[in-house]
Amino acid sequence: MKIFLETFGCQMNEYDSELIRSILRSQQHTFVDNLDHAEVALLNTCAIRENAHEKIYYRLDELRGRKRRQKKLVVGVLGCMAQNLRQELAEHAPIVDIVAGPDSYKRLPLLIDAVLGKGEKGFDFSLSEYETYSDIAPQRQAGVNAWIAIMRGCDNFCTFCVVPYTRGRERSREPKNIVAEVHRIAAEGFRQVTLLGQNVNSYRFEQHDFADLMEMVAAVEGIRRVRFTSPHPKDFPRKLLRAMAANPKLCKHIHLPLQSGSDSVLDRMGRTYTKKEYLDLVDEIRTIIPEVSLTTDVICGFCGETDTDFEETLEVVRRVEFDSAFMFKYSQRKQTIAERKFEDDVPEEVKTRRLMRLIDLQREISKQRNTVEVGKIHDVLVEEPSKKNPHEWLGRTDQYKGVVFFDESAKPGDFVQVRINAAGTNTLRGTIERPSWRRLPVMAAAADCCQN
Ligand code: SAH
Ligand code: SF4
Ligand code: F3S
Repeated sequence: MKIFLETFGCQMNEYDSELIRSILRSQQHTFVDNLDHAEVALLNTCAIRENAHEKIYYRLDELRGRKRRQKKLVVGVLGCMAQNLRQELAEHAPIVDIVAGPDSYKRLPLLIDAVLGKGEKGFDFSLSEYETYSDIAPQRQAGVNAWIAIMRGCDNFCTFCVVPYTRGRERSREPKNIVAEVHRIAAEGFRQVTLLGQNVNSYRFEQHDFADLMEMVAAVEGIRRVRFTSPHPKDFPRKLLRAMAANPKLCKHIHLPLQSGSDSVLDRMGRTYTKKEYLDLVDEIRTIIPEVSLTTDVICGFCGETDTDFEETLEVVRRVEFDSAFMFKYSQRKQTIAERKFEDDVPEEVKTRRLMRLIDLQREISKQRNTVEVGKIHDVLVEEPSKKNPHEWLGRTDQYKGVVFFDESAKPGDFVQVRINAAGTNTLRGTIERPSWRRLPVMAAAADCCQN
């Protein structure tokens, strides 16, 4: 069959779509980029906030119209929203033929066969305690960065969050198997690996912890940068900070979700750290890795959040001076502890007002943090043509800051040295100081890369 697959949500879903491609291609299915040519339309969905659901319902409406013209089109909803809404999707969306959660992808070929062969609906939402898809080689689009899921699920049950219900119990993949995947990736030409997990700090396989895994991955020849997302502030290992400070391939950027700066809100969120513990951790991170960049996630208007609570969040944001942040209005999710225990009592307009204030503050801080870079020279990994001007390149510094520059001879995957000469809120601009040194042997280039 000709399959059109569209992915929504986080990098974990992007990775899962690569697994889905691999699973379905092994059964002789092919993928098309244009829905007009598809016999099966699969949506790999997200459930994190209500607007994620809305996007999918909008897409399903479009597919409903299309199915009137193209009666045989098979429609499947996969991923977190499929797992979260299961019955609702199965019963209330007659155009949906397949519903499969994040642990059911190996059964997709059977589900498709059941729809095609017997005209049955194909539903599977069983969550597994063991499935890590470690026997599937994801089919990636060629590029510079490869995502690798090192674990699946989450056991943290932050009270606002739906992920433990959509992705099930936490399980880690065997390091040997992850390292084998990194070798394959390096051979395919990827230069950077980003390790993914809902809480990478709790990665554990036999005696190996996350810091051990980072070192193992960084040791793979051909891989020049290793990143990860996300750690949880409650258990950030000091061993990992020391490894990041010492190993030039481990990038000096930490995404450290704050969520709120108020102790009472953090407590209701079930985050298990206080404002002071978070700030102490930030101080320690900056002592061990002075050049580190810090980014974060913040939620505005969680249940019971008062003006004073919100002021505390602003205070932490001011004190830490994050390089950038993802900021959200609280969105109540089905099944979560917050839905059962607390009232979603912050009015929508208050949530919006707080979010706007937070965004304004963070924009100012991001601009300041970027302005400090002007005049410095950075090693930049070239990623892709700039969206605004395809004659220029977009690359990233070790600290994950985007840099736009012009270089006639550069290619994605090259390292170049760029002198920063202008700073915006989201990106830096610079001029080439030293063109690509991709032709140097990998080890020499890696040593070069840590000199600044
Ligand atoms: N596992 C990651 C988070 C994944 S979800 C971690 O703990 O860092 C990404 C972000 O979405 C969260 O950090 C949180 O800020 C936001 N988020 C999660 N649930 C939300 C909700 N119900 N409403 C608004 N934002 C939410
Ligand atoms: Fe959700 Fe918390 Fe798990 Fe992150 S750590 S996925 S916010 S429950
Ligand atoms: Fe990711 Fe959305 Fe699921 S953020 S884990 S795809 S709910």
